[in-house]
Amino acid sequence: MVANELFMNGEFVPAEHGMISVHTHGFAYGTGCFEGIRGYWNEQDQQIYLFRIREHFERLLRSCKVLQISLPYTVDQLIDISIELVRRNDHRGDIYIKPIAYKADLSIGVRLHGLSDDFLITSQPMGNYIDITGLHCCVSSWRRIDDNAIPARAKICGAYVNSALAKSEAIQNGFDEAIMLTHEGHVSEGSAANIFLLLNGELLTPAPTENILLGVTRDTLMELARRELGRTTRERQVNRTELYAADEIFLCGTGVQIAPVVRVDHRPVADGTIGPISRTIQETYFDVVRGRRPGYRTQWCTPVYAEIPASEHSEVAN
Ligand SMILES: Cc1ncc(COP(=O)(O)O)c(C=O)c1O
Repeated sequence: MVANELFMNGEFVPAEHGMISVHTHGFAYGTGCFEGIRGYWNEQDQQIYLFRIREHFERLLRSCKVLQISLPYTVDQLIDISIELVRRNDHRGDIYIKPIAYKADLSIGVRLHGLSDDFLITSQPMGNYIDITGLHCCVSSWRRIDDNAIPARAKICGAYVNSALAKSEAIQNGFDEAIMLTHEGHVSEGSAANIFLLLNGELLTPAPTENILLGVTRDTLMELARRELGRTTRERQVNRTELYAADEIFLCGTGVQIAPVVRVDHRPVADGTIGPISRTIQETYFDVVRGRRPGYRTQWCTPVYAEIPASEHSEVAN
């Protein structure tokens, strides 16, 4: 189903009323920041679990700080508003929640200070964002934005032009996805995803200083690797040719989920099939986000609807 309400300017309104002026600062200059939060439908529980929604809103508040946007809500209030929105839209499947905080002033003039701010949240059904059965990636000719240009650690609307340039170049050149390097030439991330490599038996991911968005999924996978596989992830600078030498590579992100990479720049990753660590991480991740692992469910999954007692589960499933 298509969502029929959204939250805007402090109230829930019909989706068709969700409009901004052509003069809006955030539209004209990209001066906004956003989040992408997934909700996963669990058929047995007849429930949507919002995955790590708290961490997403904590990051949104940090992005707002960078852009000097004042958001008149606490993280708890933002979670409550999101739950209410999903309930009002009565979603019964996988969804994507997108909160956006932006400079709402209608004036001309590029700056951050002395402008009014607005905030909205939308929710919509969403399946897989990209293929998760084996990607062919290229190293992009576009470099990742630098912390002193547009800070990548904030999820800034305008910064996604960088991602869009890289993504379209990749697709139009016959690849599935781009891997971007920093200006210094080290591996940074995908167009909208973090990256992990398995190299010489070690799990690696570019360090926070490599102009990456500090992904919630990245953090999730580091914890899952440690707790489920007994592997510590090393955060360090990664060279381009380590991509060619890797035994396994996967991209991760809220939208992307866990997307194994099987070829980079026409070179197969190991034997060009999905490796065992990527496969296990992917399977574990989907169990966790759908609320099928009680320990992680309590820790990371926020239910939207009233919970059905366990004793009634089998009746629903049948
Ligand atoms: C540029 C970029 N990097 C990384 C990620 C992954 O972040 P997260 O796992 O928090 O969704 C995203 C995701 O949305 C992204 O846009």
